[in-house]
Amino acid sequence: MPLIPYPVRAYLKHLRHGGNRHDVHSPFVFALVENVLRKRTPPHAFAEIEAQRLALLKDNRIITVTDFGAGSRQGSGFQRSVSSIARTALKPKRQAEMLARLVDYSAPNTILELGTSLGITTLYLARSAASAQVHTIEGCTAIGSIAQENFTTAGTQNIHPHVGRFEDQLDVVLATLGRLDFAFIDGHHAKEPTLSYFDQCLAKAHNDTVFIFDDIHWSQGMDDAWSAIKAHPKVTVTIDLFNFGIVFLRKEQQREHFVLRY
Ligand SMILES: C[S@@+](CC[C@H](N)C(=O)[O-])C[C@H]1O[C@@H](n2cnc3c(N)ncnc32)[C@H](O)[C@@H]1O
Repeated sequence: MPLIPYPVRAYLKHLRHGGNRHDVHSPFVFALVENVLRKRTPPHAFAEIEAQRLALLKDNRIITVTDFGAGSRQGSGFQRSVSSIARTALKPKRQAEMLARLVDYSAPNTILELGTSLGITTLYLARSAASAQVHTIEGCTAIGSIAQENFTTAGTQNIHPHVGRFEDQLDVVLATLGRLDFAFIDGHHAKEPTLSYFDQCLAKAHNDTVFIFDDIHWSQGMDDAWSAIKAHPKVTVTIDLFNFGIVFLRKEQQREHFVLRY
């Protein structure tokens, strides 16, 4: 077994190959770097959502979790505190803010999140595009219930939670959408499922759809999935930020793959 875990090796490679905005010659990507990646969100912009995160971090309720994710004992139930899920599963504030800026910049009408967890990032997405409809899918019923509590507390009207396996729910949800403008794929981090969800979403995607994949270098399988996504004939521009991979289909762009330190 290698001494250094896969994600650490991948991160060291990312640091060696990652560029900065001076390496970006595409005006489209440069504008995105300036307006999304380099921009800072005002400190209290999402204070209410962060207060909800804080409450979850102190929530000692024990729930029975069904883990559908990669490498899990699929379908088996085990006990976890809400606080431990809040500590480990949710996108941290800095990343959630970046997602919110990306949503704000791309102004989508329909947003899809695969992997609701406790709903904190969903709230960021929904708050940054108040007129968009946000569909989010979560496999674990107990986790989905806590997310629903958070949506109710926040009083958001534009979130549509769906509980069920992505394998079962994604097609059902996509069938209700005219077009898909923004997709955040943050669950089931394994090669074949990731590629299959991407393919399913492509059916409703258009020239300006933005895809963002989480944990693209989490494992060899996810690295392979990311390589396949970059090579997909419909994909023109990708931006590898290590934690996230952003994908564009814009036909007017020259085919280019950026690796940026963020
Ligand atoms: C990393 S968490 C999502 C975190 C959330 N997007 C956030 O940032 O707040 C991934 C979630 O996806 C769910 N999940 C993983 N694989 C799934 C599958 N095949 N079907 C349904 N849900 C799945 C897990 O139960 C978990 O709650």
